[in-house]
Amino acid sequence: MSKTVKDHLLSQLHGRTARVAILGMGYVGLPLAVAFAEAGFDVTGIDPDLRKVETLRRGESYIQDIMDEQVARLVAAGKLHATNDFSALKDVQAVSVCVPTPLRKTGDPDLSFILDATTELAKYIHSGMVVVLESTTYPGTTREILLPKLGEENKLVVGQDFFLAFSPERVDPGRTDWTTINTPKVVGGITPACGNVAAAWYQQAIETVVSVSSAEVAEMAKLLENTFRMINIGMVNEMAIMCDRLGVDVWEVIDAAATKPFGFMKFTPGPGLGGHCIPIDPLYLSWKLRALNYTARFIELASEINTSMPRHVVGLVQEALNEQGKPLKGSRILVLGTAYKPDIDDLRESPALDVIGLLMQKGAQVTYHDPYIARIQHDGWELESVPELMPAVSASDCVVIITNHSGYDYAAILEAANLMVDTRNALGKLGRDHPKVVTL
Ligand SMILES: NC(=O)c1ccc[n+]([C@@H]2O[C@H](COP(=O)([O-])OP(=O)(O)OC[C@H]3O[C@@H](n4cnc5c(N)ncnc54)[C@H](O)[C@@H]3O)[C@@H](O)[C@H]2O)c1
Repeated sequence: MSKTVKDHLLSQLHGRTARVAILGMGYVGLPLAVAFAEAGFDVTGIDPDLRKVETLRRGESYIQDIMDEQVARLVAAGKLHATNDFSALKDVQAVSVCVPTPLRKTGDPDLSFILDATTELAKYIHSGMVVVLESTTYPGTTREILLPKLGEENKLVVGQDFFLAFSPERVDPGRTDWTTINTPKVVGGITPACGNVAAAWYQQAIETVVSVSSAEVAEMAKLLENTFRMINIGMVNEMAIMCDRLGVDVWEVIDAAATKPFGFMKFTPGPGLGGHCIPIDPLYLSWKLRALNYTARFIELASEINTSMPRHVVGLVQEALNEQGKPLKGSRILVLGTAYKPDIDDLRESPALDVIGLLMQKGAQVTYHDPYIARIQHDGWELESVPELMPAVSASDCVVIITNHSGYDYAAILEAANLMVDTRNALGKLGRDHPKVVTL
């Protein structure tokens, strides 16, 4: 009997006749839904955000990496549906959960979205279903949070009646060489059968599936990847602070070190961490370890350095103005680029938010320009991107480059600016030893 459930589901997955639901149609969920729909599955995206649902129903995308035409084609072909009604789960066999996993104001994990999605899922789970959690979270979440609600409470046996796994998302927004489809995908099940079923499903749409022995290994692998980045960025940010004290150009140092063909990996300093992942995910791990009476020291130290960077940048602006005999208070500061990384429209956790807030606190008159971010509302302040860049550059006392969007003509900006603080080495050689430029 139990074998039949698994075999039947596997044949639906291999034949791509299984109906798929994606819970959470954001930066992760929409590309995944599109990948499964392109593979031939009938996919329903379920999201409480009605604006997203309506946009998709009109055949439009709200994610830069997904084109309107692709959504329109899949919606018209009846392969991609969107709803805010969770009862659509009744008729699906394969569910992927891609809901947010932010931090609370206290810095602790906020699992409320996972809990809400699991509660809805628990109402409709049935025999012959595979559920994969994609949201980044601490090791143990799939087994400790999802399994009891989906399995025991519904009298379903995991690995026999239904199948539960974790598969971390690795999407790098804005990237075109590595996408949802060709980035290898790690999958780990609650039981070996769960792992097999989940891998069989994902193999239909994703080029390389890497099976690991448990959900916990898959959960931890994602945290290793992001902790690796966070700690190395923290280390190189501290290098920048140390080079500043030593009067050495950190960018030249990094370029020199990067000529070593082995044993070195280049990371670059910046005004602080941004995005939904790198500043947050490692703190899920340190939180979990704290409960086990262990302090994740590398994570805490890197986090401390990274979160101090916006203040360091404001210090650089203050010193640079001081050299020109100007106080920061009352000075006109133009922040160039506010998205958390170049050429994307994502502002989440962007260090620009902290830099702008700190500059305002010190009495500076702050404006910003970003071709991707028209308006910012944050922490009691609100700004709109200046309509014309070059007049704003020449009218400002200091231009601070926070995000090095590739569309900017940096030579022209430098020419027009009175003073620049470059936190990204966007000016490169132009900025080295230039009397108008201070670099991180
Ligand atoms: N964005 C990235 O680059 C990235 C990369 C790797 C991993 N992740 C992880 O993937 C997860 C999702 O991130 P994202 O960037 O797609 O977030 P997002 O905010 O863009 O999208 C999440 C979506 O989930 C919806 N949602 C909220 N509660 C829900 C519920 N109960 N049921 C169904 N939908 C619900 C929201 O309305 C939203 O549309 C997070 O855990 C994140 O850490 C993100």
